[in-house]
Amino acid sequence: MDNARQMRNLTLIGFMGTGKSSVGRLVADQLHFTFLDTDAVIEARAGASIDDIFKQHGEPVFREWESRIVTELARRSRTVISTGGGLPANEANFCSLKTHSLVVCLWASPEKIFQRVRNQSHRPLLNEPDPLAKIRQLLAVREPYYRRADILVNTEFRSLREVAQQVLHQFHMAQRANPVAGAHGHIQMHHAPSTGK
Ligand code: S3P
Repeated sequence: MDNARQMRNLTLIGFMGTGKSSVGRLVADQLHFTFLDTDAVIEARAGASIDDIFKQHGEPVFREWESRIVTELARRSRTVISTGGGLPANEANFCSLKTHSLVVCLWASPEKIFQRVRNQSHRPLLNEPDPLAKIRQLLAVREPYYRRADILVNTEFRSLREVAQQVLHQFHMAQRANPVAGAHGHIQMHHAPSTGK
């Protein structure tokens, strides 16, 4: 059970290819919040693409960048945050996000994710002989974290716009359920993660 939670921000988590950045932009526009993509922040600071960071420095260095950014995010308000797929699969990162955000997980099956990412080459973790097997393996490890989001939204049968509407609806509901809630207020979250249906 969570005690008083601050809901200054809205954070999208979920596996690669679930639409976090696209949905995040749409939601940020509607809420008049700032949009922030953790991968984009890392690339800007490193002056290199995620792919190059993995190649030159390795995954552990990339994960350190992520954790540093997560710490900084705690100071933000009125921000929609789109996270890299592996970022919340770290207890400290996950807990930190929950201190200031409604955490929404965008969900899709391994097969659907594979369909969406198969023609993209910018994701170093999927540059593998058998990307579908890799997706299944990573998803199995991360699923326990994804399931701890406040809200799970299945993206398989919805357009990006419909997913964004669902996320907005959930954010407004969370605020309405808590009269003291607001961009700078506190929300008490007492409900279990829902599927967002
Ligand atoms: C990763 C997901 C990517 C990016 C990096 C690692 C992961 O972000 O952070 O390639 O570990 O799942 P997206 O989820 O935005 O593709």
